[in-house]
Amino acid sequence: MGLEGCCFHVRIIAMLRSLFVSLSRSQWVQHAITHWGFARRTAMRFVAGETVGEAIDAIRQLNRQGIGATLDFLGENTSSPAAARQAAAEVTDMLDAIDRSGVAANVSLKLSQVGLAIDPNLCAENLQQMLQKARDLGNFIRIDMEDATLTDRTLSAYFNARSQGFDALGIVIQSYLYRSSADLRHILVQTGKVRLCKGAYQEAPQVAYPRKADVDAAYDRLTEQLLVGAQAAGLPPRSADGRIPPIPALATHDEARIRFAQAALQRLGLPKDALEFQMLYGIRRDLQTELVAAGYPVRVYVPYGTHWYPYFMRRLGERPANVWFIASNFFRK
Ligand code: FDA
Repeated sequence: MGLEGCCFHVRIIAMLRSLFVSLSRSQWVQHAITHWGFARRTAMRFVAGETVGEAIDAIRQLNRQGIGATLDFLGENTSSPAAARQAAAEVTDMLDAIDRSGVAANVSLKLSQVGLAIDPNLCAENLQQMLQKARDLGNFIRIDMEDATLTDRTLSAYFNARSQGFDALGIVIQSYLYRSSADLRHILVQTGKVRLCKGAYQEAPQVAYPRKADVDAAYDRLTEQLLVGAQAAGLPPRSADGRIPPIPALATHDEARIRFAQAALQRLGLPKDALEFQMLYGIRRDLQTELVAAGYPVRVYVPYGTHWYPYFMRRLGERPANVWFIASNFFRK
């Protein structure tokens, strides 16, 4: 692709992301999409089912290929305290289900699902309950990072929980935010476990790089910072059951970012299992198995549940081909 074609493609992706992140908040589009059988079937390419049992079956298949998992009960922006408590209870049940089934999986969750946007105290209470359960079962919880209006509150909930002694807890840093290098430095001081991603929301140019090339360059710089920081911290190993991850987790399907990380590992004299690569369920399965075959640990983010609409919209906005696929079926219909 020439330079012009490449710029056009990048602009299309930026427009799509903006459109689909807006649509993810629209009630009437949600109603239309979730009642359209074809969209529901397409969403299931990215979602491992509606029940925890279906998700555990999907994880078993991943585990058979040497791939770990992080399980996510879909939901975000819960609007009532009762729903926030119910979501936290679902997560503790999910930790039990992982334990009973013996699969190699930990848990990811969004704090807005358990009350962050309603009441930080309620959210802290729910988080503590889930972390206590994870600790009792020797498991690990990763707090996903949401849009920039929640970054400060999410980080402060994370640091509070860490200061209460909950160590089996990780956080996410998004390379599109200007603030991320400073946040990462702060997290690494406490040898915090970090998943690095590019960022999936639509942010203002005052807080985030608008250009994909800058987001990618920041991803590489943060990868280097994360690996050097983890090396300085002494690289505590992953647990033998595959549930507790190493400090650095690189969440991307971008082969150029993965190659950069592989080269950085070599340059720093670090072993392949000093990090783990993470990808989303249903995306680049070929790359997941290729990395496992090359000796790198891989974990897949496995979402399940009935609240798949906003997650699905973000996945559509990341790749024009997903949208053409949906649109062409809509018009065929
Ligand atoms: P990029 O978007 O450049 O895509 C690179 C290639 O990957 C594409 O060319 C395509 O081949 C493939 N690809 C990417 N997205 C695809 C899609 N939807 N469908 C099909 N192919 C696709 N974000 C966030 O803000 N907070 C969070 O907590 C998390 N957590 C998280 C966990 C894990 C395990 C992953 C992999 C990702 C996240 N994300 C996230 C999402 C992340 O920020 C980002 O939006 C997506 O990973 C897409 O970016 P890539 O790094 O893959 O690169």
